[in-house]
Amino acid sequence: MTSSKKRHRPLLYSTCDEDSRSEARAMGITEGDDVLSVTGSACRTLSLLVNNPRSVTSVDSSAGQNHLLELKLAAIRHFSYDTLLEFLGVDHSSDRLALFEELVPALSPGAVGYFRHYRRAVRNGVILAGRHERLYRGIVAPVLRVLYGSAIRELFAARDLDRQRSVYRQRIDGPLWRSLVRNGFSERALRLVLNDHSYNVVVDVGHCGEYVLDRLDHTLTNHLVSDNDWVSFMFHGRYPDREVLPHYLRRENVTAIRAATTLVTPVHADLTGYLRGLPDRSLDKFSLSDVTSCIDHGQFTTLMSEVVRTARPGARICYRNCFARHRPGPELLDTLERDDELCAALDFDDYAFVYVFEIFSVRDRAGPVADGQEAVACEPAT
Ligand SMILES: C[S@@+](CC[C@H](N)C(=O)[O-])C[C@H]1O[C@@H](n2cnc3c(N)ncnc32)[C@H](O)[C@@H]1O
Repeated sequence: MTSSKKRHRPLLYSTCDEDSRSEARAMGITEGDDVLSVTGSACRTLSLLVNNPRSVTSVDSSAGQNHLLELKLAAIRHFSYDTLLEFLGVDHSSDRLALFEELVPALSPGAVGYFRHYRRAVRNGVILAGRHERLYRGIVAPVLRVLYGSAIRELFAARDLDRQRSVYRQRIDGPLWRSLVRNGFSERALRLVLNDHSYNVVVDVGHCGEYVLDRLDHTLTNHLVSDNDWVSFMFHGRYPDREVLPHYLRRENVTAIRAATTLVTPVHADLTGYLRGLPDRSLDKFSLSDVTSCIDHGQFTTLMSEVVRTARPGARICYRNCFARHRPGPELLDTLERDDELCAALDFDDYAFVYVFEIFSVRDRAGPVADGQEAVACEPAT
């Protein structure tokens, strides 16, 4: 066990700070698709199963994140909806460790060893266990409760945007709020809490806190917070009720995930290294999360050249930028067609608010068909 602890770090992400409804709009997954996903908290990977693609390969360089995917999927398949929410930590449970033992036959030895080692994460509700989530549970939500308790209750009670905007502007927005967000999300603070020694973090947006303040202002004035699972989690340190759960945990999506026949394969690897081992034209959809937050511009260029090589004609690629602004280089512009309209729509609509979207279709390598010309057949893959 000691050696497993040395090899595998505790969870950094345990619940979704991404809006998987955006992924559904960007990807258009169908039943024949072979999908590549970055695992992270596993929530977005699980959401991809709702449309029952042929396969989902979910890659993460942190083994614990993939063990979390196995655990969540096993729990979805094994438990009733009520027990699932108890086990994961949405609802109260008297004995999650006993529930975990029921899942053991469905888990790999690696996942069993990992969660036996980190049993406290299971006992306290695994979706609350990540370092990222503990920041919101242990610091952000308690501080907000002390400073803005009754205003936050009013904000979440608002049933229309006019009312929400007026609570936000009159009772929350002001010098204290702005200073808290600017300093709380400064580059220094973020590196302290979230950085992993293997990440190469790039900041292209100027001041991180200023950027978050601006995006938070957008969400608090344009999205009803009572519908928004991530903002609810940020402000409360938990999901206040079953009406505001991440996409994959909504009752109808749990039913769809259970029914899916998708082959799900968690892979512990560096993403670019994994893609290098695949043949040309292997994949239809790439759901790359904000892996862009962990890599520098050179690594991004190499990653995208492997993505394009392994993409089938017509493939869709979706990734989010947070503080970096990674864009494919000019060498890929003939191959990738950016969906400008959808990127702009998701930048506005996305509930997770801090991300901006990059969504591309992969053109056939024979190039676009000019008006009045016959399509040229592709070279077979070598
Ligand atoms: C920045 S996190 C995003 C978490 C995400 N927002 C969520 O809700 O789950 C992305 C994940 O990418 C993984 N990662 C970072 N760099 C990677 C790489 N080069 N190859 C594979 N996975 C990587 C990290 O371990 C982390 O779990």
